[in-house]
Amino acid sequence: MKHRSSIASGLALSAALLGLSGAAFGDDDGYDFFARMWVGSKAPGVAPVTDTRYLEECGGCHFPYQPGLLPARSWTKLMTDLEQHFGENAELPADDAERISDFLVNNAADQANYKRSRKIMRSLRPGETPLAVSETPYFIKKHDELSRKMVQDNPRVESISRCEACHTRAETGSFGEEEILIPGFGAWEDD
Ligand code: HEC
Ligand code: HEC
Repeated sequence: MKHRSSIASGLALSAALLGLSGAAFGDDDGYDFFARMWVGSKAPGVAPVTDTRYLEECGGCHFPYQPGLLPARSWTKLMTDLEQHFGENAELPADDAERISDFLVNNAADQANYKRSRKIMRSLRPGETPLAVSETPYFIKKHDELSRKMVQDNPRVESISRCEACHTRAETGSFGEEEILIPGFGAWEDD
């Protein structure tokens, strides 16, 4: 009996591995297990958020922007002035702020081996310290074909900072073109 169950669990394991590798090759911008293991090659997208405190504290008002979307220097600056945060007071108790700041800095775009993080970093001048993802040159260039009607005047979007309104897999760190659905306008077709 012991022998049989080890064969069974061996089979289950291979099936799980096959499933994972299938996902890895079928999806070219998603986060997946194997992407993290590809030594020397860049994983697609940006790393998904793993810190629950960050999700709770910073994800309450808006999409929890992945740390890999801004350089460490931007996160440090943003975290030192939470009292005046885009017109809101987002102040946190010191221990929470410290923990979240560490998480952001340690996983920032300049620390990450992810494709989008690299591209964001490459678009910045040395020392340039944007306080918003939507102010980075890479982001601006990627979104320059969107109209007012699709964003500001669209009641289901309203702000370009609402990544999740259009990027259906934003939470996983994936922003691939084929996953974009603009509310009221449908799938994005580049021309
Ligand atoms: C009280 C509400 C509130 C909390 C809490 C909050 N924010 Fe914000 N945040 C805002 C508002 C409002 C904006 C501006 C969004 C817009 O323009 O649509 C913003 C924007 C941002 C942006 C720029 C988005 C862009 O356009 O690229 C970043 C980055 C950001 N917040 C990070 C954080 C972090 C990190 C925390 C946690 C420490 C946090 N926020 C907590 C209200 C909040
Ligand atoms: C109103 C809808 C909308 C919102 C909101 C939005 N995006 Fe986009 N995003 C797009 C479109 C459209 C493109 C262009 C796709 C193309 O043609 O390559 C794009 C492209 C991108 C790309 C490049 C993808 C690629 O494959 O080249 C990234 C990364 C990205 N967005 C991240 C974000 C982040 C982060 C936010 C929030 C701060 C955000 N977007 C908010 C619609 C949106």
